Amino acid sequence: MNKIINLTKANTLIRVSLFCLSFLFFHVDSFSQDTEKGKKLFKANCAACHNVGAKKVVGPGLQGVNEKYDREWLGKWIKNSQALIATGDDAANEIYNEYNKSIMPPQAVNDEEIDNILAYIANPGTEKAKGPAVVSGVPVEVVEEDNSMLMFMFFGVIILLLILIITLNKTGVFVKEVIAKDAGETYMGPRTLGQNLSKLMADNKGIVAAVVIVLFFGGLLNLVDGAFQIGVHQGYKPEQPIKFSHKIHAGEDQIDCNYCHSGARHSKSSGIPSLNLCMNCHTYIDGSDGKTFMYNGEQYSMVEEIQKIYDHLDYDTETQVYGDNPTPVKWIKVHNLPDHVYFSHQQHVVAGKQKCQTCHGPVEEMDVLEQHSPLTMKWCIDCHQETAVATKGNGYYDEMHNRMTPEFKEKVLNDGILTVQEIGGWECAKCHY
Ligand code: HEC
Ligand code: HEC
Ligand code: HEC
Ligand code: HEC
Ligand code: HEC
Ligand code: HEC
Repeated sequence: MNKIINLTKANTLIRVSLFCLSFLFFHVDSFSQDTEKGKKLFKANCAACHNVGAKKVVGPGLQGVNEKYDREWLGKWIKNSQALIATGDDAANEIYNEYNKSIMPPQAVNDEEIDNILAYIANPGTEKAKGPAVVSGVPVEVVEEDNSMLMFMFFGVIILLLILIITLNKTGVFVKEVIAKDAGETYMGPRTLGQNLSKLMADNKGIVAAVVIVLFFGGLLNLVDGAFQIGVHQGYKPEQPIKFSHKIHAGEDQIDCNYCHSGARHSKSSGIPSLNLCMNCHTYIDGSDGKTFMYNGEQYSMVEEIQKIYDHLDYDTETQVYGDNPTPVKWIKVHNLPDHVYFSHQQHVVAGKQKCQTCHGPVEEMDVLEQHSPLTMKWCIDCHQETAVATKGNGYYDEMHNRMTPEFKEKVLNDGILTVQEIGGWECAKCHY
């Protein structure tokens, strides 16, 4: 009886406290409604290109725009910047030219929503003071997934099993007879494979030897066959530890390849971006609007995948503070030339003016990144034979032409086309260390 009374009392207490709490929340909520709404709208519509601090992302940091422009101008710009530019508006044309005429798409937001967004930009809370999230570099780790040997063994075992079953099947009738005769009895119906096998092995050494020989050579053939495929990984598309989709980033959101792979223009390798770069956008884009996306034919939740970035950086989304225990993501290397080959991105992208897609295929359509080209020696030299060097307006070649002997100039440049092969793109030492 006492217990029941106590429970009822506790119940009332909980109800009362819940009521008080909800009251409190209601008031906190309505107090900061505009900026809260604005924050959500900003994340959904603007954060892919803008930071609320001073930092440049795709477009300028929006800190201070409320002071820089009046409300009417901002409304026109946000709804349709191109229309405003077309009117000849000075300020609009100035910022447009400053950003190399990159187009800010018209935003599907109404006046009330723009008010909320501007309120959030004026008062983004802790994010404003902190500005863009930058932590000292977390090293990028790229690992090679060495499963070629495993695949070998796997297929080897399967083929061996097949051969075993076929062999057993063919000798099946014979086996049954032998077994029955040996045991001094008549055939009593099927036994298990195991029973048959052990009996067979014990009693028929000749057959066992034959099977072993077949297995051995079968296995060997399989190995030799596999060996021709070593080193050619065309179509290789490992699932990555973070299900990063190029289709979303480079395709739908049209982020330039060079924004993330800036090495391609300046060095031998393109490199994989560090997670700090991701935070330029993912400080705001956290997937909390509940969207899903496709990766390798499966559906995943954005919020869970993006959370992995925060986990690796040891970043607390509540306090927006970075901890002391960042861990690198172990991206799995997709492309991998042998060590004896020299390949430079800068040479091909800058001097050679080759597009990323010529060698890597339609990356902007891939959710899982895959190796598009074979990366064999034939692939390299075929292209060097067919492709003309982009000499026009290239200072490097102007200088090279000056250094050429007249005979060489005559011979090479006469047909009007200078192929990569003709400048030495077939010389062993150019590609091999
Ligand atoms: C796809 C990228 C993109 C998106 C999305 C985007 N913007 Fe922009 N925005 C730009 C670029 C680029 C500029 C620089 C001017 C130019 O090149 O047109 C710019 C300029 C601006 C400017 C002028 C800033 C200045 O300092 O002069 C404002 C204000 C602005 N954007 C607000 C917004 C708001 C608000 C949203 C979301 C509702 C938004 N933008 C969404 C790309 C974008
Ligand atoms: C937002 C950043 C981002 C953008 C933009 C981006 N990438 Fe990537 N890229 C990555 C990350 C992260 C990886 C490693 C994970 C993976 O392989 O999917 C990667 C991997 C790659 C790889 C494979 C690397 C390897 O291991 O061999 C290639 C090739 C590549 N990107 C090409 C491109 C091209 C071409 C574009 C433009 C069409 C592009 N990327 C745009 C971030 C980006
Ligand atoms: C002429 C062909 C070619 C072009 C053009 C090309 N790549 Fe590559 N890319 C390769 C080869 C070959 C590899 C493998 C290099 C290795 O394993 O050493 C590679 C590797 C990569 C990797 C893996 C990391 C690395 O650097 O090894 C990334 C990322 C990448 N490329 C991005 C790009 C981007 C972005 C562009 C355009 C700006 C581009 N590539 C243009 C042939 C090309
Ligand atoms: C220039 C802005 C920008 C950068 C830089 C950026 N992202 Fe994104 N990312 C986005 C946008 C926009 C989305 C889609 C969000 C949506 O649709 O709600 C997204 C979605 C994602 C998702 C969920 C969908 C998917 O692709 O799997 C993951 C995971 C992700 N990003 C990881 C990364 C990683 C890792 C990096 C750094 C290598 C990175 N992002 C860099 C803008 C960016
Ligand atoms: C899509 C065509 C294409 C493919 C594929 C290609 N290359 Fe090239 N390569 C070029 C072009 C164009 C140049 C000329 C660049 C320049 O103007 O300096 C070049 C130049 C070179 C040079 C410098 C040659 C010299 O005489 O200065 C080397 C080395 C090289 N490539 C290596 C490779 C290797 C290794 C591969 C294969 C892994 C490869 N290339 C695949 C187009 C290609
Ligand atoms: C344009 C670049 C290029 C040139 C020029 C080139 N090679 Fe190669 N070579 C490669 C690449 C790339 C591979 C790696 C192929 C693979 O892993 O499948 C390779 C592989 C090899 C191999 C290893 C066997 C194999 O197929 O994997 C030998 C041997 C070789 N090259 C010899 C030569 C000789 C000799 C020359 C000069 C006549 C030469 N190469 C010129 C790019 C080149």
